[in-house]
Amino acid sequence: MKICVIGTGYVGLVAGAAFADFGNNVTCVDINEEKVDMLNRGEIPIYEPGLDRIVERNAAKGRLLFSTDILGSVKDRQVVFLAVGTPQGDDGNANLAYLKDAALSVAQGINQLTIVVNKSTVPVGTAEVIQEIFNKNSKEEAIVISNPEFLKEGDAINDFMKPERVIIGTTSERARHIMGELYAPFVRSRNRIIFMDAKSAELTKYASNSFLATRISFMNEIARLCDVVGADVESVRKGMGSDSRIGPKFLYPGIGYGGSCFPKDISAILYLSHKLDTPLHVVESTHAVNDRQKVYLVEKLLSRTKDVKGLTVGILGLAFKPNTDDVREAPAHKIIEKLLSLGAVVRAYDPIAMDNFALEHPQKEGSLTYCKNLYETVTGCDATFLCTEWHELQRPDFAKIHDLMRGNLLFDGRNVWSQSEVAEAGFIMECVGRPTIEAK
Ligand SMILES: NC(=O)c1ccc[n+]([C@@H]2O[C@H](COP(=O)([O-])OP(=O)(O)OC[C@H]3O[C@@H](n4cnc5c(N)ncnc54)[C@H](O)[C@@H]3O)[C@@H](O)[C@H]2O)c1
Repeated sequence: MKICVIGTGYVGLVAGAAFADFGNNVTCVDINEEKVDMLNRGEIPIYEPGLDRIVERNAAKGRLLFSTDILGSVKDRQVVFLAVGTPQGDDGNANLAYLKDAALSVAQGINQLTIVVNKSTVPVGTAEVIQEIFNKNSKEEAIVISNPEFLKEGDAINDFMKPERVIIGTTSERARHIMGELYAPFVRSRNRIIFMDAKSAELTKYASNSFLATRISFMNEIARLCDVVGADVESVRKGMGSDSRIGPKFLYPGIGYGGSCFPKDISAILYLSHKLDTPLHVVESTHAVNDRQKVYLVEKLLSRTKDVKGLTVGILGLAFKPNTDDVREAPAHKIIEKLLSLGAVVRAYDPIAMDNFALEHPQKEGSLTYCKNLYETVTGCDATFLCTEWHELQRPDFAKIHDLMRGNLLFDGRNVWSQSEVAEAGFIMECVGRPTIEAK
């Protein structure tokens, strides 16, 4: 099929590359010239494991093109995907300005009947809004449908190539047929395409993300209770997860969820619920618990030292999760802001996401320093926080860290550091919902 994907971010680029990999002719369009130039030079603007190889082989075969020309690129296409950002607006709702802009350009460019597929995460009713843009501005017929995306950054290729389900929101038989054909190679081993109406598809995405975020906040509260009563959340988690009605995934407590999706999607569904006077009390609490959780490690440090003014704190991991360079809403932002506001000196490191993080928090002489690796970061620190569980940060040489640090306080925000190794090396370590480790 001839396809166009508007937006070459984490979703659009992965989707475009994956569709090309199954033999479709794909043009990926972005308004950001720098990104398109990079892609045309064979460089990938984002960090996503495995994406470079797929882009390279399909670009080499001429099946995957990149362009800034939206009007020209949507001509003679059976399907056009909209995969632009829908960031949180000032009122908490999803900001649809990029989506509407993109839709208007597509409407002006199409020259045949086109299925317009919205992949961006959008409030219920947006397909109708976008359909209206086409009805008013296009000479050709467009069928606007919803196809929310469920990929995870860091594992995006696998998620897209082998989706657990593909949600297609439209009542148009024609659109259902074309989308069924397009996705057929992705769901060959088991048909995981679920057809529904567009509103239900749009809400499925928000309901899924709210539910996943709620599991995280629930476990974070259980972890706090474990801290108070002296239970070990690792045991509680395993015990709970063995119940097939609960399942083992997404039961890991930590320092709160972040990223470009959960926070803004929860804000958007809450906006909708307020507007329609249909409260979502559980989701409200999920959000409030998460906000508090992001500074839990700082609270723990304060309960030990009372004052952190003048202390040097090492921050290991800045991305909101491992295997991504995405730092949007990462807990490390709040942690570092809090520490700096309390007068601490911060030394920080992330294997991939440091440059992105520094755009928002530039290095500042005497208060915030970015370091080359884990060991440089901890040098001279009174306390060290683990914020992102990158593989390279999970099994460090604790004896070496002990030699390099000035103090002996560790705070493991991800419950991954080996308790026995830490104790052996002479540290005091606090986790999230696990008993405190006292130096041997
Ligand atoms: N990132 C994820 O893990 C993920 C997962 C599922 C769903 N989503 C949703 O998918 C959507 C896209 O997310 P993302 O993370 O890929 O965003 P992103 O910010 O990484 O990329 C969006 C791209 O769209 C481009 N763009 C904006 N306006 C444009 C226009 N008018 N024409 C052409 N290009 C334009 C931007 O320049 C940018 O490159 C969002 O709604 C998001 O909520 C994201």
